[in-house]
Amino acid sequence: MTVFVSRGPSQTKKLAKRILVSRLKAASRPAILALRGELGSGKTTFIQGLARALGIREKIQSPTFVIMKWYVLPRRFQSFRHLVHLDAYRLERAKEAKHLGLDHIFQDPDAIIVVEWAERIKRLIPKSAYWIKFQHGEKPHERIIQLRIQMPKFKMQEAAVGSNENFSF
Ligand SMILES: Nc1ncnc2c1ncn2[C@@H]1O[C@H](COP(=O)(O)OP(=O)(O)OP(=O)(O)O)[C@@H](O)[C@H]1O
Ligand SMILES: [Mg+2]
Repeated sequence: MTVFVSRGPSQTKKLAKRILVSRLKAASRPAILALRGELGSGKTTFIQGLARALGIREKIQSPTFVIMKWYVLPRRFQSFRHLVHLDAYRLERAKEAKHLGLDHIFQDPDAIIVVEWAERIKRLIPKSAYWIKFQHGEKPHERIIQLRIQMPKFKMQEAAVGSNENFSF
């Protein structure tokens, strides 16, 4: 488990870029990032950072009302060809997601898939997904971002908290 304390939107975006570069190389296909956490905790902001790092120029907004948005990568990344942004906030049950064909999307080997509110369709999320948890911190611009994977340190100060590693930018 790796815990990051982000102190502003730009740090959350930077973390997204770092995860893209360091983790998706070795990812199984499709690469799936399952984001969970409270309203306003930074999930869409994280995806904006991911999209920017992939060279996507369109403005990324939460696709809450359309559930899914699909972007062609201007250049391939590790031979991935597109980014799929899903928001399960309005999905009542995994069954509903299945009707939308999401189970097929999770089999597309050319896709990097990011899912907001992934906990709502947990049953459909493949085992290979990287789960990332977002929480509000104590201060207004603080967000706590937890990964279930080990991440190498990058320009951050280290502070041990319990058995977890705790990093700050
Ligand atoms: N450290 C931070 N990281 C990310 N966003 C931050 C941070 N500090 C402040 N913010 C602000 O918090 C808001 C986060 O909103 P965002 O849409 O990314 O959250 P979300 O988790 O996608 O919410 P929702 O569940 O409603 O989709 C933005 O307005 C952003 O500018
Ligand atoms: Mg959002």
